[in-house]
Amino acid sequence: MDADGPITTPFTRLLGIRHPIVSAPMGRASQPELAAAVTNAGGLGGLGFSWDSPERIEELVGAVRQLTNDGPFLANFALEWDQHQRMDAALSAGARIISFFWGDIAPYVDRAKAAGALVVHTVGTPEEARRSIDLGVDILVAQGNEAGGHVWSRLSTMVLVPLVADVAGKVPVLAAGGIADGRGLAAALMLGASGVWIGTRFLASTEAACHADYKRRLIEAAASETIETTLFDGGWPDAPSRVLRNRAVEVWEAAGRPKSGSRPGEGEEIGRTPDGKPVRRYSFPSLLSGGQGDIDDFAIYAGESVGLVREILPASAIVRALVEDAAEIMAQRSGHRSGHSTKS
Ligand SMILES: Cc1cc2nc3c(=O)[nH]c(=O)nc-3n(C[C@H](O)[C@H](O)[C@H](O)COP(=O)(O)O)c2cc1C
Repeated sequence: MDADGPITTPFTRLLGIRHPIVSAPMGRASQPELAAAVTNAGGLGGLGFSWDSPERIEELVGAVRQLTNDGPFLANFALEWDQHQRMDAALSAGARIISFFWGDIAPYVDRAKAAGALVVHTVGTPEEARRSIDLGVDILVAQGNEAGGHVWSRLSTMVLVPLVADVAGKVPVLAAGGIADGRGLAAALMLGASGVWIGTRFLASTEAACHADYKRRLIEAAASETIETTLFDGGWPDAPSRVLRNRAVEVWEAAGRPKSGSRPGEGEEIGRTPDGKPVRRYSFPSLLSGGQGDIDDFAIYAGESVGLVREILPASAIVRALVEDAAEIMAQRSGHRSGHSTKS
């Protein structure tokens, strides 16, 4: 186990890591380079495997294990699709932290645990948290509605985290949505979280595998430029996501917000994935590094915290700044408290 960092919590102790910071799984934008950078900086790197082949998952797990010298990392699956085969591939390649999003974990928990893995579940209500604890989940993620990407909850992080913490008992809770700096980390800990699960801030890192034009948009965007929408429903219907308002959104709005099937340019090819597959207008894949197309045609997933993101940084620098700033804020606060009690 690494030496303790300045902020230790039940989550860091459970995993034996230095810092209570997870780089959130973000589909194919979260590749081994990003996950390894975060794990090697003392946090926990997340990988999104929801759409990869079992063979590809084995390769990616092998890559992250090599890059981290067998450090911890998290393998994530969105349960909109059956994920048994993909989960089995990750487990057999050595993944020991399995994370689920967007659905019922009951069919998966026993298999993951039998392989010796910890199970992480992203929840959107305290009731859902209660149920997943009954199913044996080891770590809860409370994802508030201000989060980037697909959003599961109607509730804001500020309200959801303490509600989930109230029912979680000894199960560590990670706060997700709206956290991008040390102030957010400190606030999450005050709300009862044991750590933070950060997407958008790590998307604007050197190592994230989204396109350079995507990263540029993140740097430029104001917090008020995100919307929650089901517009990008191709391949993932009725699933609200938080994206930046861009030309694709504006053209659809100007056309009177027509329903799926009769939207402007519906189904036309707007670009290519890094492996050369066509991407159709209004489908959910984003523009990745090595992909082709105009960022203004794609879904630009981003949370409200995008307004706090002003530069692209190496993931290790992001981890360091989060921890140092949060530790300083908390030290100042306890300084104020003791100052106050001395006077009174
Ligand atoms: C580009 C992008 C892709 C995402 N893909 C996934 C995913 O595959 N699985 C998942 O559980 N969450 C996914 N999320 C949600 C994140 O895991 C996380 O909950 C969210 O980013 C937290 O909010 P923040 O962006 O304000 O930090 C994604 C988020 C973004 C921005």
